[in-house]
Amino acid sequence: MGNDRISRRELLASTGASLASLAAAPGISARSTVPLNRLLEPQSPPPQESDAEITDRARRMKWWHEARFGMFIHWGLYSVMGRHEWVMENEGIPVNEYESLAKRFKPMPNAARAWAKLAKQAGQKYMVMTTKHHEGFCNFDASKYTNYCAPKQGPGRDLVKEYVEAARAEGLRVGFYYSLMDWHHPDGSRCADDEDARKRFVEYTHGLIRELMTNYGKIDVLWYDVAWPLEADGWESERMNKMVFELQPDIIVNNRNKLPGDFSTPEQQITAEKNGRAWESCMTLNDSWGFQRADDDWKSSRRVIQNLITCARDTGNYLLNIGPEPDGSIPPESVSVLTEVGQWLQRNGESIYESDLCQPTRSNYASFTRKGNTLYMHVHYWPGSYVVIAGLMVQVKSARMLANGQKVNFQQDRFRVRFTDLPVKAPDHPVTTIAIECDSEPKQDNIFVRKERPRQSVGV
Ligand code: GLC
Repeated sequence: MGNDRISRRELLASTGASLASLAAAPGISARSTVPLNRLLEPQSPPPQESDAEITDRARRMKWWHEARFGMFIHWGLYSVMGRHEWVMENEGIPVNEYESLAKRFKPMPNAARAWAKLAKQAGQKYMVMTTKHHEGFCNFDASKYTNYCAPKQGPGRDLVKEYVEAARAEGLRVGFYYSLMDWHHPDGSRCADDEDARKRFVEYTHGLIRELMTNYGKIDVLWYDVAWPLEADGWESERMNKMVFELQPDIIVNNRNKLPGDFSTPEQQITAEKNGRAWESCMTLNDSWGFQRADDDWKSSRRVIQNLITCARDTGNYLLNIGPEPDGSIPPESVSVLTEVGQWLQRNGESIYESDLCQPTRSNYASFTRKGNTLYMHVHYWPGSYVVIAGLMVQVKSARMLANGQKVNFQQDRFRVRFTDLPVKAPDHPVTTIAIECDSEPKQDNIFVRKERPRQSVGV
């Protein structure tokens, strides 16, 4: 244990999920303490939170934990070039040359309506759109601070406003991505070693965030990105978050302004957080966040569904990106993958939304999620007329095919459950789910199988 010891309060502080079950968890003593060496660590440890703050986080995050699946949208001047959102930096484009894109960015009106419709259809419950990416261009009305913003340039109107309205019209929660790093602003880099520049740039940054938190009604997520070249002190991140929560008492914020925030953000990978801390895995549908015309490395709907299942199994969220074209239209490959995922979720959503932490993982062709005593077996590679789980330590009571409710026959002994009389061809596409009702919380123990399974006395 050693350094991994945390107090119950810290544990509760880090999660909004399943407060009741955590409070009741064995081995978490109210008197266990944080080891001294951890308290003395130089970089800002999470500040001690009051019970009221912990309860408040659980309240703010409830919808998000239930949602599981969101749409990320990367859209800006880089979309005009169609060479990835890092094109300005990675092709060394001078600021004045890059700025000319702002006049050429002329998206169709209300492009965001199609994004929101697609998100809804795809079973996504919230959206997070780039309000300002590293390039420094503001998709919203930032004219109090800069003319490098959509209403003053090619678009001639506030694109964030259109997006917010579109998301709300579909009943989706609204998130704002905001990059602290800024390649356009003259102080964006020199703030690192010029105190006057830092002060100006912090005022600019806090000012823009204030605009975002003030002018668009209730915002559900603030998604900071890249804090280069400053740390939390330099950004005055405590003060930044305080302002955000004063303006938006229900919002949740991520951890990329160098403070822990409400949730972690593993990128292009699915890595669950420890100790029940909330997390969201963000991922591209091909290999680029912003539109990159030639990037055709699309993930299949099966891959996306598998990823979503993995997130849901470990009580994380999956934030899946689209990179609209400069006119705002969605690449057709993204539309078809997300549509298939949505159709699958219509039949199988019960196994994803509001899922609980799931212990069973072992199979050659399936993965698992859980809700209460129901285990969902997601078969990616359908092996034929029967499928098996080994080492299930609870009693199966009944099983059904999630897509059509049909009863599934099964036989269970100490070592395995065999689900039998199944069709040879996979009944659902691209993943077939069997809902397995158990007599208690499903647990799997494959070492038990390895040790206890009867062996022949070969060679003795
Ligand atoms: C990275 C990239 C950025 C992208 C972000 C999404 O920080 O720099 O382009 O917006 O990941 O998580």
